[in-house]
Amino acid sequence: MASEKPIVVVTCTAPVNIAVVKYWGKRDEELILPINSSLSVTLHQDQLKTTTTAAISRDFTEDRIWLNGQEEDVGQPRLQACLREIRRLARKRRSNGHEDPLPLSLSYKVHVASENNFPTAAGLASSAAGYACLAYALARVYGVDSDLSEVARRGSGSACRSLYGGFVEWQMGERPDGKDSIAHQVAPESHWPELRVLILVVSAERKPMGSTAGMQTSVETSALLKFRAEALVPARMAEMTRCIRERDFQAFGQLTMKDSNQFHATCLDTFPPISYLSDTSRRIIQLVHRFNAHHGRTKVAYTFDAGPNAVVFTLDDTVAEFVAAVRHSFPPESNGEKFLKGLPVEPILLSDELKAALGMDPVPGSIRYIIATQVGPGPQVLDDPGAHLLGPDGLPKPAA
Ligand code: DP6
Repeated sequence: MASEKPIVVVTCTAPVNIAVVKYWGKRDEELILPINSSLSVTLHQDQLKTTTTAAISRDFTEDRIWLNGQEEDVGQPRLQACLREIRRLARKRRSNGHEDPLPLSLSYKVHVASENNFPTAAGLASSAAGYACLAYALARVYGVDSDLSEVARRGSGSACRSLYGGFVEWQMGERPDGKDSIAHQVAPESHWPELRVLILVVSAERKPMGSTAGMQTSVETSALLKFRAEALVPARMAEMTRCIRERDFQAFGQLTMKDSNQFHATCLDTFPPISYLSDTSRRIIQLVHRFNAHHGRTKVAYTFDAGPNAVVFTLDDTVAEFVAAVRHSFPPESNGEKFLKGLPVEPILLSDELKAALGMDPVPGSIRYIIATQVGPGPQVLDDPGAHLLGPDGLPKPAA
């Protein structure tokens, strides 16, 4: 056996996900157990991903973590919960009589380095991809092959949905210990190839309140949230699953928009109220409804998380026209930044009828840029040793 390897290194990538039935509110803050099930679409890693390298070695004296090149406090409770959980699973596997796949000791300390391929400053949620990637990479260095929902979830609730590609459900579960609060795939990424996703990154004036604090206040004060979770979400989960299975875009789009609006309504019902949408977000909502009204059917659908950026779903035959409508209503400021990133979109001219139907005064610069992407796969292991973010000494490689 080649057992004298001083260091075991694994590098993985994980995707961002966007919920179409929203998670908002916990029934257990410590275990991160939700008050309702949720459902999301996994976005393609060609456009948005986290890359994480985890290394274990008998020579490391403490656990350490670097995010986007900066060393962070490894003592953060959520990070500690993930580490504890993965080591517990590894111990359990060993006591079940499995041979160690790697020459390691569970007492070895871990070094972790993680980075995003998209700017954190854009306000795109990165914690889901980050914790899913952490769980996936730790599982590989410690030789764990069981379900990782619990590990990722302890980092950030929505992270358990980034463990799979395609369309993913997080079942709320009922048990107090959370063992049945797990994510699983509803349909793979190949299921709906025509589906496209546009992220409209708006120019934010201020940093909104974080999800964790926001949902805690909502659970404490919003009767509407309680009603939504108990009386409405179960049927919405079933209906959303049907829309996806049958690739029914009209119904999928309508329910996606309604669920986003209802989530933001529960924020307004929170006391003191929380508002994540900006004037630009509301103008995007208006643009989408006018675009759909002009066509006489739901061709595009928006959803918003705990911030002002819009995520828009549409089908491949509508992308070019909708992007042209966005450009018309929110003309880019010539600040040198590319307005359209990601998948190529053919430039087209808008018809005068559509321009008139949109009936909006252009607001230059209020959308900074668009990222065009699609549904994508779950976490991946990178085999190329050149991809490691940590060098043979277990410290971050200097930026290239
Ligand atoms: C609005 O998963 O970020 O994006 O579990 O406290 O870390 P914590 O919250 P987080 O909340 C995500 C909320 C949301 C909706 C969703 O993704 O379902």
